[in-house]
Amino acid sequence: MKVLIIGGGGREHAIAWKAVQSPKVHKLYCAPGNAGIAEIAECVDIGVMEFDRQVEFARSKGIDLVIVGPDDPLVAGAADAFLKAGMRVFGPEKKAACLEGSKSFSKDLMKKYNIPTAAYETFDQASAALTYLETAKMPVVLKADGLALGKGVLICNTLEEAKDGVRTLMLDKQFGSAGDRIVVEEFMVGREVSVLAFVDGKNIKIMTSAQDHKRAKDGDKGLNTGGMGTFSPSPFYTEEIDAFCRKYIYQATVNAMKSENREFKGIIFFGLMLTKEGPKVLEYNARFGDPETQVVLPRMKNDIIEVFEACIDGTLDKIDLQFEDNAAVCVVLASAGYPEHYEKGFPIKGLEHFKDQAGYYVFHAGSRSGEDGMPVTNGGRVLGVTALGRDLKEARANAYEATNWVDFENKYMRHDIGKAIDEA
Ligand code: AMP
Ligand code: GLY
Repeated sequence: MKVLIIGGGGREHAIAWKAVQSPKVHKLYCAPGNAGIAEIAECVDIGVMEFDRQVEFARSKGIDLVIVGPDDPLVAGAADAFLKAGMRVFGPEKKAACLEGSKSFSKDLMKKYNIPTAAYETFDQASAALTYLETAKMPVVLKADGLALGKGVLICNTLEEAKDGVRTLMLDKQFGSAGDRIVVEEFMVGREVSVLAFVDGKNIKIMTSAQDHKRAKDGDKGLNTGGMGTFSPSPFYTEEIDAFCRKYIYQATVNAMKSENREFKGIIFFGLMLTKEGPKVLEYNARFGDPETQVVLPRMKNDIIEVFEACIDGTLDKIDLQFEDNAAVCVVLASAGYPEHYEKGFPIKGLEHFKDQAGYYVFHAGSRSGEDGMPVTNGGRVLGVTALGRDLKEARANAYEATNWVDFENKYMRHDIGKAIDEA
């Protein structure tokens, strides 16, 4: 098969790494890719939102399968563009990707189908939101309805903060039209877990659990980021919790989408909060998580291309999804200053240490090939260093050891990825 992956982050590098292990793949392309992906695939300089060029390229190369990685193209209809051209694509259509693309849609869906989530109200007018907040219980969570690079969620401790938040989202339009509508949500307390799942429209197969670290600094301080590190499995995601989620959340979501005539094929990422009253859905994403994918796929036993095809063909029930009985930790190496201002263009040294080191992986995110062929930094999150271990503690020690193998100017990481493991 000739396969094309759309995207160029750490998630896409992990998907590409897993895809080339499939005996079914004889040629892999990636648009636009990055310096790490370029070692295993042919990268083409086409942006993730350039659907016409993507389709034209796929047609000219006779691509058999397209995999769309990021949320922005999926929500904007990337899968639809390939389907319209008669191609096989892994990823939800636009009408299903709104599960991530619109918070009010997903909240209304959960309410209608009794899927556990935080109580909420939706507002299209700032004045109504401000009036509502006067009597709301603090802290409260404000969410821009649309995609906002993961930054459209504001946790407000006081009424003043909440009012400022409404102004930022709805009047100052910090996230553009994503803030035309907001969801005001009850604040939930608990541990967060990320659960990714393959979905074929009717069947769902759950992958092993993971936990992300969203804040920039140690001790969960600093600004929200795309994710500074992950571990898998989550020791807090017990069999009892899994059973509850299977009964009330996972299949229920797939069925709800089908009932709404928005059949979902692709990845559903369940962002869960384990509250005292039980697990509740924080959010849905319509794609693999980043950097969750970098700890989940190295533990997956199956041929991922077979699973992708089963999702497209509606035969996921025939797949026996299996994961290794081990653990993985990923530490993100970022450019100092991320997620705000940072410099890029620095050579990345030491990547060769990962060659032939079983159980150690370096997934590139913000990198590109420099003039002399050596990769240089090209983004906020530069690399994800993943290591396996027999258990989480071993995986964590291995991952931090491997972070020393690579270096670049302004290298920054959190030193407490997986600290929660010690509380399990
Ligand atoms: P989201 O993009 O919806 O996942 O929100 C980003 C982050 O905000 C989540 O990972 C949580 O840490 C936090 N968050 C979102 N909604 C809530 C909530 N209702 N209660 C507490 N924290 C929340
Ligand atoms: N790591 C969180 C996300 O992918 O949205």
